[in-house]
Amino acid sequence: MSTENPSQNRRNAGLFERAQQSIPGGVNSPVRAFRAVGGTPRFIARAEGAYMWDAEGTRYIDYIGSWGPMILGHGHPAVLDAVLKAAHDGFSFGAPTEREVELAEEIIRHVPSIEQVRLVSSGTEAGMSAIRLARGATGRSKIVKFEGCYHGHADALLVKAGSGLATFGHPTSAGVPQEVVQHTLVLAYNDVAQIEEAFRTQGNEIACVMIEPIAGNMNFVRASVPFVKRIRELCDQYGALFVFDEVMTGFRVALGSAQSLYAKAIPGFRPDISVFGKVIGGGMPLAAFGAGRKVMQQLAPLGPVYQAGTLSGNPVATACGLATLKEIAKPGFYEALADKTQRLVRGLAGAAEAAGVPFAVDSEGGMFGFFFGSQLPQNYPEVLATDQPRFNRFFHQMLDRGVYFAPALYEAGFVSAAHSEADLADTVAAARSAFAPA
Ligand SMILES: Cc1ncc(COP(=O)(O)O)c(C=O)c1O
Repeated sequence: MSTENPSQNRRNAGLFERAQQSIPGGVNSPVRAFRAVGGTPRFIARAEGAYMWDAEGTRYIDYIGSWGPMILGHGHPAVLDAVLKAAHDGFSFGAPTEREVELAEEIIRHVPSIEQVRLVSSGTEAGMSAIRLARGATGRSKIVKFEGCYHGHADALLVKAGSGLATFGHPTSAGVPQEVVQHTLVLAYNDVAQIEEAFRTQGNEIACVMIEPIAGNMNFVRASVPFVKRIRELCDQYGALFVFDEVMTGFRVALGSAQSLYAKAIPGFRPDISVFGKVIGGGMPLAAFGAGRKVMQQLAPLGPVYQAGTLSGNPVATACGLATLKEIAKPGFYEALADKTQRLVRGLAGAAEAAGVPFAVDSEGGMFGFFFGSQLPQNYPEVLATDQPRFNRFFHQMLDRGVYFAPALYEAGFVSAAHSEADLADTVAAARSAFAPA
């Protein structure tokens, strides 16, 4: 059901109709189709700073930021300059470049758990490769993931929980054979007892435990410190590897990524393998996975774990990522970003409270979530129990007021360095008007 006015978006609607002739569902990634919230997707013509304009010329304050990468906002001059220069020097060589080395060094400099890193082109590819590496390094097959976490669309990860701890998962997509997910165990997020039981019964067969440390694919749910600490202990005890999927949180919640936040709470904490994407590419197709030297040397050409890519470490993408990382490493960047994000979510919460609407918010660095419910969810079933129709209505009310939040309850939001005080104030004012009784 849509609350929008169809007469306002004829060009978007026309493009959507046309797109559906040549592209399945009219989109190249399902969430863009607005299926969760209903209505017509906006076809974006251009973006600058904190704004996007659709095909009808309507301007939106953008809180999606390409689903995370655009931490500096769109078209940051230093990034644009680096990309244009790199493009002039050649799009792709299929041979090593100095810039790849620089980007690898820059990631390693900020993330102490990583000694070596391999660049790839998407978060899916990085997550899939991390799992192969964990399996290769341990000689084990089983992997553990958590309900509500998304790690890309590799076959072994498109799984939902089985009926009990002893049973392995079921594919969540057609085309994924049961045999392919038979080694994937799906457990409840933030449930210490379940992970303890899994290790007690199958610990010697588990290659890795993969987690989104702050799960941005069920809106915004933090892994509790005791949960992360216990997984670390269990992995050490049983010789399994702990994989932090920081595709969304990496360089987004802090310069040292989410793992740096857990390291503050758990002395000496480090994951074994980390997966990055989004921000490290600054909006270009670039992702990475990294670990200690011993694990990474399992990879071809040094070791037996095969992994490769025609466009891996692409020179234009690496220029974009490097320029982005240089900007966000400047002193005070994350303090300012976190402050903006906190002011945004506090403003939204204040607007909801004034209207008597149950509303819960959380944020870290430039990433945030809000829920129509009185408490922050701790796991996927609790996210599902929040008020989805109310969320969908709010999404469209805000879109109609020129504020573009993610078109699904299950997605995190993102603030960029380009969002101004006026943008935040306009967003909160729009929320106040959306919450006002009709
Ligand atoms: C935590 C996480 N891991 C992996 C992925 C997959 O990344 P990509 O869409 O670049 O394949 C995503 C995408 O949103 C993600 O949020």
